[in-house]
Amino acid sequence: MTSTLTIKGLRVEVATKEVLRGVDLTISSGEVHVIMGPNGSGKSTLAHALAGHPGYKVLGGTASIDGVDLLTLSASERARHGLLLAMQQPLEVPGVRPIDLLEAAGADPTDLRVRMRREAERVELRPDVLERFVNVDLSGGERKRAEVVQLGILRPKFAVLDEIDSGLDVDALGAVARRLAEATTEWGCGILAITHFRRLLQELTPTMIHVMSEGRIVTTGGPELSEILERDGYEPFRAAST
Ligand SMILES: Nc1ncnc2c1ncn2[C@@H]1O[C@H](COP(=O)(O)OP(=O)(O)OP(=O)(O)O)[C@@H](O)[C@H]1O
Ligand SMILES: [Mg+2]
Repeated sequence: MTSTLTIKGLRVEVATKEVLRGVDLTISSGEVHVIMGPNGSGKSTLAHALAGHPGYKVLGGTASIDGVDLLTLSASERARHGLLLAMQQPLEVPGVRPIDLLEAAGADPTDLRVRMRREAERVELRPDVLERFVNVDLSGGERKRAEVVQLGILRPKFAVLDEIDSGLDVDALGAVARRLAEATTEWGCGILAITHFRRLLQELTPTMIHVMSEGRIVTTGGPELSEILERDGYEPFRAAST
């Protein structure tokens, strides 16, 4: 069944500043949407707001999966409705092991450890890393790979991945991109990937690329847009927003 993640007119305030000023996005199962944009333009704020982070106040607009309003749900309810978020800076959760986190998030406990190992192999993560407390003593790149293991186990309808490629070495980057591309076909995962770099997109072909500037999506285009951005930077698009 095809699902749709719909974001309409989303406005979000952080620390008394309106950071998101009306964001519209529609993502269907199996699609890969990419958000690029300058530092501070509001990309992570979008991820935090979708996660239901307490510091992010929704001023207006909606976000829903198949008509179910996400913004009124608790973080765990959002996960149960098929939304997975991987944050730019994954949090340490001392005392909690990845396997416990996954079970709490609703993963089938049958052979869970075996499946985790298999997912770890797919992103070239040493499986013993997953025996430590969540993100504690993991390197930057290991944390990112561990998030992708979670995605492989939980098989969310939609995954919002904030700079999943940052800190990954070039081999891991390829492995992660391939794993994400496979998720779109294996169970029709819809992906919203925030990134600064085209490298991720070599093996994860975007359906669409969106440019965010000053809290709005100012341009949308096909995969070719990432080349234009790399060549010309964001200045021409910043101008388009005013
Ligand atoms: N908790 C906070 N308190 C105060 N200001 C914040 C907070 N979180 C974000 N901001 C501000 O909101 C704006 C948008 O930040 P955000 O993290 O969404 O940017 P970004 O597009 O993800 O940037 P980057 O590419 O650097 O990750 C920035 O000006 C930032 O300083
Ligand atoms: Mg960010």
